[in-house]
Amino acid sequence: MIIINSIEELYYETKKAKGSIGFIPTMGALHEGHLSLIRQARKESELVVVSIFVNPTQFLEGEDLDSYPKKEKADRKICELAGVDILFMPTVEMMYGKDELRISAPAIRGFILEGTSRAGHFDGMLQIVMKLLNLIAYHQPKKFRAYFGKKDAQQLALITQMVKDYFINVEIVPCNIVRDGDGLALSSRNIYLSKEQRVHALSLSRSLKKATKMVIKKEFESSKIKEKMEKELTYIEVEYIALVNRQFVPIKHIELGNTIILVAGKVGKTRLIDNIWI
Ligand code: PAJ
Repeated sequence: MIIINSIEELYYETKKAKGSIGFIPTMGALHEGHLSLIRQARKESELVVVSIFVNPTQFLEGEDLDSYPKKEKADRKICELAGVDILFMPTVEMMYGKDELRISAPAIRGFILEGTSRAGHFDGMLQIVMKLLNLIAYHQPKKFRAYFGKKDAQQLALITQMVKDYFINVEIVPCNIVRDGDGLALSSRNIYLSKEQRVHALSLSRSLKKATKMVIKKEFESSKIKEKMEKELTYIEVEYIALVNRQFVPIKHIELGNTIILVAGKVGKTRLIDNIWI
């Protein structure tokens, strides 16, 4: 595995790729969720590139940019063991100039749910993903795939739209959510949770399981499902419970095979999100 800290070196190394490139952008503090993306890329690509970059423009004032978990040494080892070819770890100075042109999230899809709770977050996220995609595929590989988790469902939807709107030559590969044995969706932020808070956090996935059970029993009305979920989320400071279709349009009735149920909330100071695809 080669660790790359400069853009010139990245161009040099990616030029060597004769076949496909699989790319997994991350912010580090890697866990099994990230690893599942890496494993899938490893199966499908000649060259696997992982980036670790805690992107300042997608954090809002008062969020955890400065305290975002950093585990550089462990991350390197994890990538090496997973068969990553290139680990790209840029600095802020390398990725951003002054007075840059900006990408804005689309008006409707970008400003609901996470877009409301974290206004501006998606602009910064799209900006860095665009830059990273352009950098890694600079030499136009035969096939270029980028892997994203369904855990961040709205992020995935917006990146898919950006790729379409800007005619970017990349296949976006959606990957399933990886959970701990107790159901908690893996997240780099889970380490902020105390033992007690972790127990409280479990109600997020439990509420989604309850919702699924209702759908199995043919309850398709969004308001009824939301009501039930709310009751399950007593220890969570709920930000939203939402039912949307895969295009991220809120729906009143479940459309089987085309629905995502999402929940976001705080446990103590830690903000967690989870969802299920139905
Ligand atoms: P980060 O939170 O590090 O996540 C990197 C990728 O891992 C994302 O595609 C995310 O959806 C996926 N992921 C995280 N937890 C997962 C889980 N439990 N199961 C499956 N996939 C999971 O998302 C970001 O970083 C950033 O916004 C980024 C795209 C890198 C841009 O800065």
